[in-house]
Amino acid sequence: MSAARIILDRDFQVGKVPRRLFGSFVEHMGRCVYTGIYEPGHPEADERGFRQDVLKLVKEMGPTVVRYPGGNFVSGYRWEDGVGPIEDRPRRIDGAWHTIETNAFGLHEFMEWAKAADVEVMEAINLGTRGVEAARALVEYANHPSGTYWSDLRRSHGAEEPFGIKLWCLGNELDGPWQIGHKTADEYGRLAQESAKAMKLVDPEIELVAVGSSSKSMPTFGSWEHTVLSHTYEEVDFVSMHAYYQEHDGDAASFLAEAVDMDSFIEGVVATIDAVKAAGKHTKQVDISFDEWNVWYQRGLNSDDQPHQVAKEWKTHPRLIEDSYSVTDAVVVGTLLHSLLRHGDRVKIANQAQLVNVIAPILSEEGGPAWRQASFWPFARMSELAQGNIMQLVVDSPKVPTAKFGDVDAVDATATWDDEGGKLALFVANRGLKEATEITLDLRGLAPTSVLRAELLTIPEGGDRHVANTLENPEAVTLVPLDSVGIEDGVVNLRLPALSWAVVQLETTQI
Ligand code: AHR
Repeated sequence: MSAARIILDRDFQVGKVPRRLFGSFVEHMGRCVYTGIYEPGHPEADERGFRQDVLKLVKEMGPTVVRYPGGNFVSGYRWEDGVGPIEDRPRRIDGAWHTIETNAFGLHEFMEWAKAADVEVMEAINLGTRGVEAARALVEYANHPSGTYWSDLRRSHGAEEPFGIKLWCLGNELDGPWQIGHKTADEYGRLAQESAKAMKLVDPEIELVAVGSSSKSMPTFGSWEHTVLSHTYEEVDFVSMHAYYQEHDGDAASFLAEAVDMDSFIEGVVATIDAVKAAGKHTKQVDISFDEWNVWYQRGLNSDDQPHQVAKEWKTHPRLIEDSYSVTDAVVVGTLLHSLLRHGDRVKIANQAQLVNVIAPILSEEGGPAWRQASFWPFARMSELAQGNIMQLVVDSPKVPTAKFGDVDAVDATATWDDEGGKLALFVANRGLKEATEITLDLRGLAPTSVLRAELLTIPEGGDRHVANTLENPEAVTLVPLDSVGIEDGVVNLRLPALSWAVVQLETTQI
């Protein structure tokens, strides 16, 4: 058994928890929309075709904001195809995912669904095949009250009141050669700048996200952000980041430490943003929208060992990238959320990609049930309990050796404290694969008075680190009570088994 110590001082804070950090993503891809959130005729669907079983799980998971409608999909999408009477909507080819898009689900349906799910909408525009004109028309359609061509068209489609969409993405992954309408940083930067200007002339209240690098490993990473922001700095509020992680060749130790990579990726983008700010003598601050992140087992598009990666035939809702998430994956997801929260002074939005079926925490079967993956749990608990202020922690942890990052802390943690209600939430993982760890949480300026909640996600009895929830056994991995939490002389003690993630919520008083 090893030992770790966490120190938390009431006065050392990173900033307020940006609630948009607990965002998700619905793309017209695979079975995320069709047979995911929307399946007319399903026994659990309401009159609008919204699956209530899926909606119930979404509400339990608690995303605050949902990005829509893509993803790679959006770079070939005509938003007008998805509005108006469903029977008049065209069937189109979606080149990004080799899929037939029926357009039975579009903007109005998503707005209705978002209202039912109680989430903010983050709408992406197409800057792949389209540009300024389609972008400003969409903002007018969505946000202008009435008395103009596009706003009256919306009203004629049944939405008398404007949708009031505040948050907009200026395209998706346009640095990527796979993207329809791929661009150089200068081409994209100018287009984004002019689209942003035109969109804000329609609605000055909107917030805009410029496209950053598709991943840290892109050859243009760094220079892309610098060039794009040099064009758009005054027009935009956020620059995007995307990152997907997976275990390579059974190297679980490195995989479990990928939050180290996320930390340094974020810090690199912050440095680039601030360099552009300084060089351009700007006074406003641009922040980060980490609008795609997750574990994703990418094995190459159309490779034979991953038949669901991209559809081979033209279908309306093929199974695409329906990854199954194990306990190991769930612990990694927990630590990625820690990294996002630790950087909540600059990362103001984050969207786990995606919400249902497509690399998702929720799975559903066509005509069948819906269930939670193991990775559902850290997200659900952090979305619920991360309230108030993000606390700066000092963590003194035993190390685990990794091939990718050298020695890293076995214990990875973050915490929030709500100064109004006095509740403190500690989110903590043991990334070690072998040893349990005794942890002491030493509070300064706060006295713990009781343990309100203590839950653990770890390898279930008799299982191994690969156990995952399945259709047959949807509750194989779930949260269990963490019995080892105690308070002694103002210090909180807990024991975390190897490979685990936990949440401890405490009642505190200020001292
Ligand atoms: O989330 C799946 C895909 O990953 C998105 O469509 C794209 O933006 C990213 O490459």
